[in-house]
Amino acid sequence: MARFKHETIEKNSILLLVLTLITVAIGGIVEIVPTFLINTTIEDVEGVRPYTPLELKGRNIYIREGCYTCHSQMVRSLRSEVERYGHYSLAAESKYDHPFQWGSKRTGPDLARVGGKYSDEWHRIHMQNPRAVVPESIMPGYGFLAETPLEYRDIENDLKAMRLTISQAYSDEQIANARADLEAQANPDSDYDGLQERYAKAVVRDFDGNPNEITELDALIAYLQMLGTLVDFSAYEDAVFEQQ
Ligand code: HEC
Repeated sequence: MARFKHETIEKNSILLLVLTLITVAIGGIVEIVPTFLINTTIEDVEGVRPYTPLELKGRNIYIREGCYTCHSQMVRSLRSEVERYGHYSLAAESKYDHPFQWGSKRTGPDLARVGGKYSDEWHRIHMQNPRAVVPESIMPGYGFLAETPLEYRDIENDLKAMRLTISQAYSDEQIANARADLEAQANPDSDYDGLQERYAKAVVRDFDGNPNEITELDALIAYLQMLGTLVDFSAYEDAVFEQQ
């Protein structure tokens, strides 16, 4: 019986064409519709917040220096990746990334979960000369970052530009306090309560070890140290490994 039906379809080119088109259309709809519903596709995840002004500057330096040409920022949901880097990346974690930094090249390791993995001092030495901490490294040194004062007169505009592309990013209050928040985050002696109210879990440190000046290295390390630290995965992690 089944064979008979198939034969009918194959011998009637119009019917075959119509049924083929219907089948392809279903496949197309399944792929295309979610992209129109993107706002409902990306579920909200607790902890995800916009970058602090200092982290945003660091991210801009990361893009300027082309770090993404060697580093990805997306842990895939494969066992080998999860064991090496930690919990696979969630869509919501890239919510405030525009452009996103997922990358497609891994000359160096994935950086999506590098925050807190090393001390600031390790990063300082590594950015100066990667071979000083990882002898076989082929990563170039970026020593000039420690000597380049961070240009942040226009920080309000950076935040405003992000708000133009990502509507929920940055409130008027965050924009009004952008410069004060940037300076507070790089100085542990400052009054940083406001910063931490506006940006949960914002880490305040003298990232580059030079208290006299806010440098590009301050911004870059602040950015690296927060990557992957916003979402608390401790509750999920056991579940992932138990399943496997
Ligand atoms: C030419 C490729 C290349 C470029 C460009 C590059 N890196 Fe790397 N990176 C590597 C390699 C290879 C490693 C692994 C060896 C090491 O730790 O130095 C690495 C390691 C790292 C690590 C340590 C990761 C870990 O989990 O151990 C960090 C952090 C890092 N890079 C940051 C950066 C930043 C920030 C930039 C841009 C300023 C950058 N890299 C540019 C190749 C690169």
